[in-house]
Amino acid sequence: MPSPDENEASPRDRISATPLFRKIILNATNNTFVAKGVRRYGMRLGASRFVAGETLDEAVISLRALNGLGLKCNTTILGEGVHDEATANRVVADYITVLDRITSEGLNVNVALKLTHLGLDLGEETAYRNVEKLVNHAASLGNFIRIDMEESARVDATIRIYRRLQAAGHDNTGTVLQSYLFRTEQDLTGLLPINPNLRFVKGAYLESPEIAFAKKSDVDANYVKLVERSLQAGGFTAVATHDVKIIKHVIAFAEQNGIGKERFQFQMLYGISTQLQRELAGRGFSVLIATPYGPDWYFYLMRRLAERPANTLFFAKSLFKR
Ligand code: FDA
Repeated sequence: MPSPDENEASPRDRISATPLFRKIILNATNNTFVAKGVRRYGMRLGASRFVAGETLDEAVISLRALNGLGLKCNTTILGEGVHDEATANRVVADYITVLDRITSEGLNVNVALKLTHLGLDLGEETAYRNVEKLVNHAASLGNFIRIDMEESARVDATIRIYRRLQAAGHDNTGTVLQSYLFRTEQDLTGLLPINPNLRFVKGAYLESPEIAFAKKSDVDANYVKLVERSLQAGGFTAVATHDVKIIKHVIAFAEQNGIGKERFQFQMLYGISTQLQRELAGRGFSVLIATPYGPDWYFYLMRRLAERPANTLFFAKSLFKR
């Protein structure tokens, strides 16, 4: 089945989702009927464009191929919102397996994970203990762990855990800041003194206008402001966006300010803007592809559908045609 590759899409298809569109799709995520249909047919009808398979073996094939194209990767076992200790422990054990496999395969791949997958909802101590175990194991293998940023209710705990890891001397970690939140500028100010490793994203969750910019142009403007500050401050900056205008701006900004290519990295999602990923790597920029896998892909897929109307249209058409 052909996929709606953005490089072949019509200009109309290239438009980003409006806040209202995102709201409708993200609200539908919790609808039982939608969840049942998408879970049942999703992988066959399009999820595989965004997810590198359901097993580690499948993911390794994609990771190896991406590395072969000169692209670095991170991988994530899909899943979030774990509410019992046994599952959280199993996720930790699975990530240990992933880290070991990355090493034995000689892959240029690190790990990005979600704290609610490691049991944040069971308590901050549980999440800290679990993530520290993985950070220690990654360090023993010379690898790196990034902590993704989830909904706004998790931001305080995520930043606290990241700071605690840094204070304990774990320098093989990084986290994520979201430009749609009003608070992020302050969060960045607070983090800059510890020379952080930060990935900047626009933000993928449904947030209220009381705490997040409602207009896309404001989210974009804040994104540029935050990245410029981070680049000037001297830590490592991961510019995680497919927004060509912003990418061009960052390249020009880095050149004008004498910021070396080793100080920042472009990051994109598996299956999105693939031509752009290769073009940037070909020009000598560091490019990392976030390459998730696992059977628990439903919420991840719904966030990708919410980001682009053309994806949703394609997915809905395939669902009805099946
Ligand atoms: P924008 O939405 O403005 O899109 C710009 C262009 O990119 C579009 O016009 C289209 O061409 C293309 N595009 C964007 N999304 C697409 C899609 N789904 N399908 C096809 N084309 C698409 N969020 C978060 O809250 N916490 C996190 O930890 C992360 N982590 C993360 C890691 C990495 C490596 C990336 C790239 C992104 C994230 N995100 C995230 C997701 C992020 O918040 C955001 O939702 C998406 O990156 C989409 O926004 P853009 O910056 O691409 O811009």
